[in-house]
Amino acid sequence: MSDAVFAAPSRAGSRTIALIGLMGVGKSTLGRRLAARLGRPFVDGDQEIERAAGRSVSEIFAELGEAEFRAGEARVMRRLLTGPPVVLATGGGAVLNPDTRRLMKSHAVSVWLRAELPVIVERVARRDTRPLLRGKDPLATLTALAQARYPVYAEADLVVDVGAGAHGQAVGRVIKALEAHRLAHPEKSW
Ligand code: S3P
Repeated sequence: MSDAVFAAPSRAGSRTIALIGLMGVGKSTLGRRLAARLGRPFVDGDQEIERAAGRSVSEIFAELGEAEFRAGEARVMRRLLTGPPVVLATGGGAVLNPDTRRLMKSHAVSVWLRAELPVIVERVARRDTRPLLRGKDPLATLTALAQARYPVYAEADLVVDVGAGAHGQAVGRVIKALEAHRLAHPEKSW
């Protein structure tokens, strides 16, 4: 038997698993569960931005504006994507930044968590923490965001539908997709 058979798993664990997708799709909730199942740390990108800025996402939008938020988001993404491997929940707009996208391609395995818009609308209605939705019709706003962003999200290494069923099932689907990806692309092992 060739030595290569035994050498194959040695690169495991090198890449961050980056979850991308629209707000409300469940990146943080699923990410936390995924991290627990894989035994690795979970990091929430928005929380890291809040910590770095010393204020909430809503306050950053209101007091500094979206452009400042995006600049801070890009800095935090760079730090996290070039750091130790974690499960990373990114804010829904993070991958619109080309540098973040490049870093994700070179340092992470990206997973687009996708769900039907009505499912997402129901989830975002539970919290009033998203400045892009405040005072707007959520379905119309999310539809416009989906139109603009889905072509970018579609560049992810993996796409997993997480709309239907319990969170636990969705996490199982993400793990299955990640394992298949690791077999097919050992050079991008997570
Ligand atoms: C945003 C998504 C939010 C947060 C900010 C902007 C977006 O994160 O970063 O409100 O542009 O889609 P979640 O996707 O975690 O809600």
